[in-house]
Amino acid sequence: MNYRHAFHAGNFADLVKHAALLRLLAALGPAPLTVIDTHAGRGLYDLAGPEARKSGEAETGVVRLMATKDAPAAFGPLTRAVAALNAGGAVRRYPGSPWLIAEHLPPQGRYLACELRKEEHDALKSALKGRANVETLCADGYEAAVQRCRPRGRVLLLIDPPFEKPDDYGRIVETLAGARARNREVQALVWLPLKDLETFDAFLRHLEDAVEAPMVAAEARMRPLTDPMKMNGCALVLVNGPDLTSDLEDICGWVAEALGQGGGARVYPLSS
Ligand SMILES: C[S@@+](CC[C@H](N)C(=O)[O-])C[C@H]1O[C@@H](n2cnc3c(N)ncnc32)[C@H](O)[C@@H]1O
Repeated sequence: MNYRHAFHAGNFADLVKHAALLRLLAALGPAPLTVIDTHAGRGLYDLAGPEARKSGEAETGVVRLMATKDAPAAFGPLTRAVAALNAGGAVRRYPGSPWLIAEHLPPQGRYLACELRKEEHDALKSALKGRANVETLCADGYEAAVQRCRPRGRVLLLIDPPFEKPDDYGRIVETLAGARARNREVQALVWLPLKDLETFDAFLRHLEDAVEAPMVAAEARMRPLTDPMKMNGCALVLVNGPDLTSDLEDICGWVAEALGQGGGARVYPLSS
């Protein structure tokens, strides 16, 4: 386990994931909801720290977003969260999914944040300290999502693995199928890297075969997918969610066009 999200916090892929996540939470409204974040990370990121400065990814991501005047309205909740965290000043801190979820949880909502790596979990615990209805777990998030999925009521899974291991694709599908077998109301937002199309297409076919639910895929391609060794973009799959087509088109379209180099965006339904 070498992956450290501190190198990538606030990059184009975080903008896609976090802008969509906040639009989704808004669309789900104030009714009670349990959110399980299978791969939570440390919760808050220091963009002035050595990792972020070394990669420079936030500079070409959130720093550009915050400087632009013409980003689509779908970015509003995210830009407001980033501005609030930085007291309206220069962007030095970036909120991870745990911070964003904890801040936007409905009044009777519950949040379970899973992180396997001990140092990251320690930081996560401290970032979320003192919040009501929030629990952190230093454990495998795929297993926890199925075991802790309530049999009734609304449950949202955020599945955002590091994709260090080839079995992440298969484990996402198993987790979704397992959680939905326990509770048909389960909804999910899954983040995936776009490197080559074969891997992504194979994942979508497997998902369509194994999970029976309305699903939508959204792609933000940052450049043509000619080099499979590079992260050429990212994708989201929304499972059993509300209709966010227009938001997803705006979010992926702006990221691909404003931050990419000749890519493009696409939002389309999957068949299950
Ligand atoms: C992409 S980062 C998560 C970023 C976070 N979701 C966000 O948006 O701010 C992936 C995290 O998953 C952790 N991780 C890796 N394998 C895991 C597993 N099986 N269960 C839980 N966490 C895991 C890594 O240590 C890393 O912190």
